[in-house]
Amino acid sequence: MQFDIVTIFPEFFSGILECGLMKRAISASQVAVHLHNLRDFTDDAHRSVDDRPFGGGPGMVFKPEPLFRAVEAIKSEAPSERMRVVLLTPQGRVLNQGLVQEFSGESSLLLLCGRYEGVDERVAAHLATDEVSVGDYVLSGGEVAAAVLMEAVTRLLPGVLGNEESTCAESFSTGASSEETIAYGGLLGFPQYTRPAEFRGLRVPEVLLSGNHEQIRAWRQRQAVLKTYRRRPDLIQKAAIDTEEIKAALRELQQPDEGIVTTRPGPLRS
Ligand code: 6GU
Repeated sequence: MQFDIVTIFPEFFSGILECGLMKRAISASQVAVHLHNLRDFTDDAHRSVDDRPFGGGPGMVFKPEPLFRAVEAIKSEAPSERMRVVLLTPQGRVLNQGLVQEFSGESSLLLLCGRYEGVDERVAAHLATDEVSVGDYVLSGGEVAAAVLMEAVTRLLPGVLGNEESTCAESFSTGASSEETIAYGGLLGFPQYTRPAEFRGLRVPEVLLSGNHEQIRAWRQRQAVLKTYRRRPDLIQKAAIDTEEIKAALRELQQPDEGIVTTRPGPLRS
């Protein structure tokens, strides 16, 4: 997979490219990341990328010419003719794991980092193939959003995660390749613990120390459903829940609280 990122802040990406998953994927040639400075595609002495909005108003708007030139230059070097051009903008479709999976099937992605005040609409209408947002809050530019998209996509690429199974059982995954995946598909993750078994008087749930794998599996499944029900009831509707065990866990919610959920719900939902 090749990522081409067009930005006025190429240096912003040095952190994410030099650490952890992205660094490993690049070293192993599973991904290539090419950074392009938008200012290199300007044609005036000041290398201006923005201008005042027609019709007046505050803020500046990215001019179309540098972005069109950048995309055309990148496309002319690329072997694949049909390239997704993703404009990161708060007006885009909100990124979720389904869209991440869709992007992970591409051989290259061209990411255009917009800015909050705006990008000339002709870019969205005639240059980008996709407009993507990372959530309903305001960022001053698309760089953080591009980094989010790139990492989420990279970790789904074949061979990038050492343990292929770890993408299955975790929160939000919708893939279905194993019994576990179907059980947890679309739910938040179950609580995880490691040693020590007791820390400052806080004990790890006994079932996890029991060595009874069937009981552990059932406990985790129930925890995932209960946590999702309490924190993200919207996900329960969409989740691939059809096993009897999960229905039973939901029925338990009609009963008085047994104190099964061991993590603090916090301020998410009373
Ligand atoms: Cl992609 N860009 C900006 N500027 N703000 C955002 C965003 C993107 N996604 C959420 N907020």
